[in-house]
Amino acid sequence: MSGHSLSIQEIEALGYYDFMSYLEVPYFQAGGLVSTEKLAELCRLDRDKKVLMVGCGAGFSACYLAKKVGCFVVGVDIAGLSIKKAKERAKKEDLEEITDFRIGDAYALPFEAGTFDAVITEFVSQFLDRDRAFREFARVLKPGGSLGINEMYREKEIPPKPAEKIKHAEDIFSEITGLPFTLPTPEEWEKGLEEAGLKNVRVRKYRPTASLEEAKKLIRAMGGVLEFSRYFSSVAVKMIKYTLISKKTRYRFRRLGEGKRSC
Ligand SMILES: C[S@@+](CC[C@H](N)C(=O)[O-])C[C@H]1O[C@@H](n2cnc3c(N)ncnc32)[C@H](O)[C@@H]1O
Repeated sequence: MSGHSLSIQEIEALGYYDFMSYLEVPYFQAGGLVSTEKLAELCRLDRDKKVLMVGCGAGFSACYLAKKVGCFVVGVDIAGLSIKKAKERAKKEDLEEITDFRIGDAYALPFEAGTFDAVITEFVSQFLDRDRAFREFARVLKPGGSLGINEMYREKEIPPKPAEKIKHAEDIFSEITGLPFTLPTPEEWEKGLEEAGLKNVRVRKYRPTASLEEAKKLIRAMGGVLEFSRYFSSVAVKMIKYTLISKKTRYRFRRLGEGKRSC
């Protein structure tokens, strides 16, 4: 993808997700594109629907959804560089007619009430104050619209040692992303959604694992094996480069590894 190179000072000044978008990491949600398709199915999306993806990052799954379903997808994110990357992606994939990406805050969405048939978040609501965010999502939904979220959860009963590790991971992710990060139980997710006035709430537990199905979808979405290999080697090279030359990047990746091992 295009875009001019940033200096090391500019890179170190980027927020965590803008930095990852700069590296061209495609997406962060566990379950990947398989989960994106599952949300589309649960929200009964079709080409006549207008969908808002809150926290769309660099727009990979938003573009995937627009292409796959043919629906109009609006993506918002507070990270400015990620939105720039999302626009570049939509242009490259010839999706400008059915996508719109803009900077926006989940707590004050720049849309009138009742604008969307569906609102989707993938690994975003877990970073938000659920009460404020869900009320705002409900506000922009049309009557009868759907909210689809793919987020992490913790089990209700956890022995003290693993509970400590989860708390440690929450602290690390909050620190490196600069965002509040908590893992609610499925019951807390449900309660939060109902308290925001959403009806017919259904919480389903999945344990996503790296699957062949996901690998195939990703390779296809990237334009084939050759493009996929090129893309990932370029991401890997950039990661190694910035790990070597930037102390802050080394620190971020080290903390990220600690956080992942902890949960
Ligand atoms: C874990 S990432 C997931 C993004 C997307 N699903 C992906 O995989 O690229 C979380 C995203 O939420 C965005 N975000 C966090 N707080 C936000 C807010 N208040 N409003 C809008 N976006 C927000 C971050 O900038 C980031 O892009």
